[in-house]
Amino acid sequence: MTTKNILLLAGDGIGPEVMGEVKKILALIESKGLLSFQIDEDLVGGCAYDAHGVAISDAAVDKAQAADAVLLGAVGGPKWDGVPYEHRPEAGLLRLRKDLELFANLRPAICYPALADSSALKRELVDGLDIVIVRELTGGVYFGEPKEITDLPNGQKRAVDTQVYETYEIERIAKVAFELARVRGNRVTSAEKRNVMKSGLLWNQVVTATHKAGYEDVKLDHMLADALGMQLVRAPKQFDVIVTDNLFGDILSDVASMLTGSLGMLPSASLGAEDASGRRKALYEPVHGSAPDIAGKGVANPLAMIASLAMALKYSLGRPDLADQLDQAISATLADGYRTGDIWSDGFKKVGTAEMGEAVLKHFESLVSG
Ligand code: NAD
Ligand code: IPM
Ligand code: MN
Repeated sequence: MTTKNILLLAGDGIGPEVMGEVKKILALIESKGLLSFQIDEDLVGGCAYDAHGVAISDAAVDKAQAADAVLLGAVGGPKWDGVPYEHRPEAGLLRLRKDLELFANLRPAICYPALADSSALKRELVDGLDIVIVRELTGGVYFGEPKEITDLPNGQKRAVDTQVYETYEIERIAKVAFELARVRGNRVTSAEKRNVMKSGLLWNQVVTATHKAGYEDVKLDHMLADALGMQLVRAPKQFDVIVTDNLFGDILSDVASMLTGSLGMLPSASLGAEDASGRRKALYEPVHGSAPDIAGKGVANPLAMIASLAMALKYSLGRPDLADQLDQAISATLADGYRTGDIWSDGFKKVGTAEMGEAVLKHFESLVSG
């Protein structure tokens, strides 16, 4: 069996708490002889700043470059509000995405049957929901230059962020969306603001041209991003794959999370391009952040982190079978009535992070033991 090289970056706040549950699942996978791992751990975010004065060290980035999969918990928190902007915790995550060229961020929003009543929307609108937001992750306003605050002669200040997209960046993310749609519902909705942004106009043109040049079997629609936000809460099941830019994708995926019951439910995979040997760099992380309001209490929902491990098993570790079994274990745990505070309501079992993680582990163990 080939050994898979995994880097764990637990990060800040609830990051280490939810990562703890993933470590238990990795240990089980190894002990059952299903995969063999070389696991390393390092720092990212505020904890890296505290230790090294930077939000991620060069050594940790090198390890991430070499890993088969990076698993990341979360970064950030009020403790680091005052640190220099370039060293803020989030800068560590952004550097990883940029240095590893992880341009394709898949953010599935699945409403598990047992959670249809936990959604912010009515059951009938979300029951059976299964959509994926494909977010462009290394371009747009997150990285465009200039990005600065300057002093004006009148004593005021001027802040600039720059939204930039080039053809190749839009084309490659559109291809990811079309290829993903082919193995799902075969529909892509592309979202931009071509009515006010030049980058939106180019986005629309390049997605259309990419579609014509080899993906016409996939149904393509275009929607203005604001209207898409509205449709996402009006009738979310109309969508299959949504492809959009870095900032719209960030916002729309937090919105989509509430269709599934909680931000604590949404995993993500950030993928680079395949190299000649078919290998691609990849980082897996929940969509949620470090949740400072509940950090340290042992009550965070670990399911987004665990589902991120399932995505790693599928996309980087060559075990889609184990990924399916881990998803089934999550579903079964929810069907048993286990609920962390974020998805709890009367009549269900209120549990903490470890109890939820261990319930998933138990189901997973019986599934993999056949
Ligand atoms: P957040 O996602 O951390 O929290 C938003 C709300 O959702 C909070 O009420 C929180 O308690 C709740 N929540 C989030 N995850 C949960 C979970 N697993 N279980 C239960 N409840 C959960 O967003 P925020 O408060 O706006 O940001 C806090 C910090 O996290 C900021 O520094 C932000 O930059 C950072 N952040 C990091 C990431 C990341 O590391 N990928 C993502 C988003 C935000
Ligand atoms: C996310 C987060 C990050 C983003 C932050 C922490 C940099 O909100 O992954 O959704 O804005 O991309
Ligand atoms: Mn976000």
